[in-house]
Formats: sequence, structure tokens, C-alpha cells
Amino acid sequence: KRPAGAPDKALARPVTKVGVVGAGLMASQLALLFARRLGVPVVMTDLDEERVAKGVGYVHQEVDTLLAKRRVSPDKASFLKRLVTGSTSKEGFADADLVIEAVFEEMSVKQQVFAEVEAVVSPEAVLLTNTSSLSITEMASRLAHPERVVGFHFFNPVAVMPLLEIIPGEHTDEASLATAFATGRALGKTCIRVTDSASFVVNRLLGRFMGEYSRIVDAGTPVEVADRAVAGMAPMPPFVLVGLVGPPIALHNSETLVRAFGDRFYLSPTLARIVAAGRRGYYLNDERGRPVPDPEVEAL
Ligand code: 3HC
Repeated sequence: KRPAGAPDKALARPVTKVGVVGAGLMASQLALLFARRLGVPVVMTDLDEERVAKGVGYVHQEVDTLLAKRRVSPDKASFLKRLVTGSTSKEGFADADLVIEAVFEEMSVKQQVFAEVEAVVSPEAVLLTNTSSLSITEMASRLAHPERVVGFHFFNPVAVMPLLEIIPGEHTDEASLATAFATGRALGKTCIRVTDSASFVVNRLLGRFMGEYSRIVDAGTPVEVADRAVAGMAPMPPFVLVGLVGPPIALHNSETLVRAFGDRFYLSPTLARIVAAGRRGYYLNDERGRPVPDPEVEAL
């Protein structure tokens, strides 16, 4: 029996090559996941050689870690390194069946990226977006084929977190949705179909948790005390999580939620200060990788 909202598997198209737009941390984690789980060539693109080299370098480094942990054989490790390539041009997407974007979280940037991708790919190629909060319908609205766009929202760290939110927009057709579901399952993720509304489901729930945490801290409870309370209910303190997902993304998510749902959500001045100061989060990692408060943030 099909789970609620899942499309007919028979409509899914085969995926033999994947394009990834962006070579940042999220995009690189995605490139590795697609190569490892689908075993198909993955080409990553970004604006300049330096970013592309950094993204490919990240993938190679993670493959080396998997090799050291004996999670992949030496043969598989060199195979994966060959599968993931990078370029500053999107020409390599011409024969891709699937392209996923993980670029800056801004509607106009993502629309522009999809327009550029559409100019290169075949009419049947499915376009996935890893947006964490933006409208899928609006993102697709300027394309010649808006029916091929599907939201495909992963969680950090991508290799570890099992969930994948799959979001059809108003125009998304069943074949694109079926391809997205089949791909999500092949990637080993638990796929849920969610509605195209601000921040979908997980980030909306998480936004309330993070917001209340920030309110408690901003009202004077020391972070260490709040974190001991959190340890009773969540795997990771909120400000550590902010460091993991990136402060600008966390702030953007709060802004989207406040815009959509008003004062049910909270814009934390602490988070805004962390972003304005360009810090990585409330914490830095010590030499053993454990989180320690960043003195520069504490002084803000
Ligand atoms: N990248 C890759 N692998 C990682 C990783 C990373 N950044 N961090 C941890 N891992 C791996 C470890 O290597 C380890 O794998 P192994 O078993 O092969 O050695 C495994 O995860 C478990 O790690 P640890 O034993 O070191 O630590 P924990 O047991 O504490 O688990 C955690 C780490 C899974 C990250 C856990 O702390 C957790 O679940 N945190 C919450 C994460 C979360 O809520 N994510 C959602 C964020 S919201 C989001 O992403 C949406 C976006 O739109 C903002």
C-alpha cells in the first residue's frame, strides 16, 4: 500500500546523472550522498574555480574519512572520487536527469539559477531545490516547465539525518514527484510529502523550539543552564545546531517564519548579532571538536 501522499512509483524516471548547483557545505554533502547511494556521475558547479575546488575537496576528504572508518572499500573510494566532478560551467548538466540546487537562500537567486539550468537541461529533467523555507510554486513560476520543480529538503548532517521533506509546488506533475520520491528512497531517506508553506514542517517546529530557547536565554538564563535543560529532550543544544546549519540560514528561517506567522515566532537579537558579526555561531570547537563558547560572541 502506498503511504499517504506518495505518487505512483511506476511514473518515476531513471536517474543516470545528477547536477548539483553550488559547491558549499550543503551542496558538497549532497554530491557525496548522490554519488554514494545512486552510483551515478555527479557534477557540481559554482561561480568560480576556488569554490568548485573547495567543494570537490570536501567530497574527497569525506570519502577518505569513510575509507579510514572502513565504511567503503579502497576501490569504492576511488570510484566515488571519480564520480564527483566540478566545473564553473553548467554545460555538464546537458545529459543530467536530475539537478538539485543548494545555493544562497534568496528567491531571486534561486529563480535565476533555475532559469540558467533550464537553458541547458533536457525538457524532462527534474529540478530539485533544497530550500529550507521558500515557496516552491514561486520558485518555479518563471520557468518554461514549472511542472518539473520539486522541493527536496535535507537536514544537517545530510549523511546522518534520515528525514527528507518532499514538497510539490502548485504546478508539479506526478512524474517529477514520483522521480523525487524514488530518488529520495534510493538515497536511503525517509520521505514525507509536505505542503508548500513557509518553512514546511520541520523548520516550523524547530523555529518554535529555537525561538523559546532564545527567549529564555535573552531573558537572562545562562546558556550553560539552558543547555543542561535541553540535554533532557534534544540531541544538540540550539546554538550548537545554529553552528551546524549556519547562522545566516537560521536567521533567514526565523525571518521567514515571523513574516508568515507573526509573533508566534521570535527574531533573536543574539542570533542577529552573531550573523552581523560574521561569527560561525555561539560556539567554537575546541581541539577535540567539543563546543566551547566563542569569546568574541560572548563579548558582543
Ligand atoms: N558530517 C558527517 N557526519 C557526521 C557529522 C557531520 N557534520 N556529524 C556527525 N556525523 C556522524 C559521525 O561521524 C558519526 O558517524 P559514525 O557512527 O560513522 O562515526 C555519527 O554522525 C554520530 O556522531 P557522533 O557519535 O559524533 O555524535 P552524536 O551521537 O551526538 O550525533 C548528530 C551527532 C547526529 C549530529 C546529533 O547531535 C544530532 O542529531 N543533532 C541534531 C541535528 C539536527 O537537529 N539537524 C537538523 C537541523 S535543521 C536543518 O538542517 C534544516 C535546515 O534547513 C536549516
